[in-house]
Amino acid sequence: MNNHFDIESFRQHLSTRWLGQSVQYFEELESTSSYARELPVREIAHGMFCITDNQTKGRGQYDRRWESEPGQNLTFSLVFTPQQSAGFHVLTLACALAIVEHLNEFVDDQPCACIKWPNDVMLNDKKVGGLLTESIFSGNKLGRLIIGIGLNVNQREFSPEVADKATSISLEKGEKIDRERLLSEILSRIEHKYTLWQQKQKDLLKAINRNIEGYGQWVQLKVDGQLLEETYKMLGINEQGQLLMLNHEGGIESFSYEQIRIVSD
Ligand code: BTN
Repeated sequence: MNNHFDIESFRQHLSTRWLGQSVQYFEELESTSSYARELPVREIAHGMFCITDNQTKGRGQYDRRWESEPGQNLTFSLVFTPQQSAGFHVLTLACALAIVEHLNEFVDDQPCACIKWPNDVMLNDKKVGGLLTESIFSGNKLGRLIIGIGLNVNQREFSPEVADKATSISLEKGEKIDRERLLSEILSRIEHKYTLWQQKQKDLLKAINRNIEGYGQWVQLKVDGQLLEETYKMLGINEQGQLLMLNHEGGIESFSYEQIRIVSD
């Protein structure tokens, strides 16, 4: 692999106060999230992250695998040690929002990126990234929150199974992307969203809702793997990160994020 992530260049671009100031880079790693999970407590610092150029056992949502071409993309895990132990999913969505907002400014003048429930980042109707959040408790105290992020940046070809559903930033923008600069800019945005999340700002929920695919529309749902016959109107997320849905009888139902998938054709 001749495309190494250049930590020095990344550090030069980084303008965050705390997020990403401590970084561990690995040429190859099974999974950045598994690595962050296994780090001993004494080595954990709020805002640190680990990144690899070749993730050999990347994990995705629903026990799926996350495949990423070595040296082309971003595969990293952020580690947080928040005081509050509620609303993780809102924080995950806030990170997705940070990426979506960045892509909407960076890739095109027309907004073309959005969040797809629960944790996908879409660009021009194809998946460009995904997030996986894991929490580690000691007793009932939250020890660490790990947000693993995979973003397709410069990859140009995908395996046949995902070729029609996946894309990369480079494919959509039509040029090679500077990964170090991109990551530093995304981390600045995530740092800002983290503060909004900590302050429980209502505007954060509104911004997330505005950027979720299907918001305000009648959609079909798969609940715990079962496709429901009736459609629901997506009302957006609440403070707990549950998705609120209006049924045809005028009742509001809330769903946790593992529970449902929005079905699109
Ligand atoms: C998904 O869309 O299914 C979520 C994908 C999350 C992938 C990232 S890549 C970095 C981190 N390490 C992992 O093993 N998974 C996450």
